[in-house]
Amino acid sequence: MELDFDGDVAVVTGASSGIGEATARRLAAEGADVVLAARRPGPLDDLAAELEAEGADALAVPTDVREESEVEELVDRAVDRFGGVDVGVVNAGVGRGATDVADIDTEDFRATTATNVDGAFFATRALVPHLRDSEGSLVFVGSYAGQYPYPSNPVYGASKAWLRSFAHSVEAQVGDDGVGVSLLNPGGVRTSFAFDDGESQAERYEAGDAIEPEEVAETIALAAGVGAGATLSEVDIYRRDQLSEF
Ligand SMILES: NC(=O)c1ccc[n+]([C@@H]2O[C@H](COP(=O)([O-])OP(=O)(O)OC[C@H]3O[C@@H](n4cnc5c(N)ncnc54)[C@H](OP(=O)(O)O)[C@@H]3O)[C@@H](O)[C@H]2O)c1
Repeated sequence: MELDFDGDVAVVTGASSGIGEATARRLAAEGADVVLAARRPGPLDDLAAELEAEGADALAVPTDVREESEVEELVDRAVDRFGGVDVGVVNAGVGRGATDVADIDTEDFRATTATNVDGAFFATRALVPHLRDSEGSLVFVGSYAGQYPYPSNPVYGASKAWLRSFAHSVEAQVGDDGVGVSLLNPGGVRTSFAFDDGESQAERYEAGDAIEPEEVAETIALAAGVGAGATLSEVDIYRRDQLSEF
């Protein structure tokens, strides 16, 4: 399917690495102006400079999605610079607290829910008015962990289950206004994502044994670009042996 984001404006949270970075690259390659959000300014600035050198318009906005004022400022700056938003990718996420439920630190619980739940809410609330104006697309990055019991990290799993419910309820609210809402559930993507200080997904899986972030980005681009009138409501993109865990 040919994708065309020429003239579109995309806001991507968690754009400093992994799936978000790959998504920003993919959308920019198809003509989108991209607004890059994450906490670390260095990788965001580097990516913005690289995309600009390739001919895209890119704006780096260091943002902690746990802070509602920072998320509001992110969207305001996107609109001030580019005049609107056509695509929102709610992707920033962490997975603290991968231990027995009796031992989970309150700080890890709060870090996970503040990022994956509060942050997703703040971003959605700020983006939706602009997506209604543009009849644009909102793509949430959920997880396999939100669809099935996830004993290795129950708080992370529950945060993604919340996101799944939220995404579908938002889809039901804004579909009438012409906004497409998609939920992507990856399982096993070779990024720097790690539970606590454990090994990253890129260290855990050999190339070819799991999903590359570019493959998730391709699916996000497809969901965002499917065209007015249709919605890829929910898409699972798993390692081929993901369901062997059962
Ligand atoms: N990798 C997998 O196997 C997998 C599977 C299922 C779902 N997912 C989901 O995919 C999404 C992206 O993860 P990834 O695999 O690409 O991992 P990653 O490479 O670790 O990327 C996570 C991104 O989230 C950003 N982030 C974290 N906390 C943030 C905060 N408070 N405010 C703003 N940005 C924040 C990080 O940037 P900063 O550190 O610069 O803030 C980074 O850009 C997450 O929601 C994750 O739950 C991943």
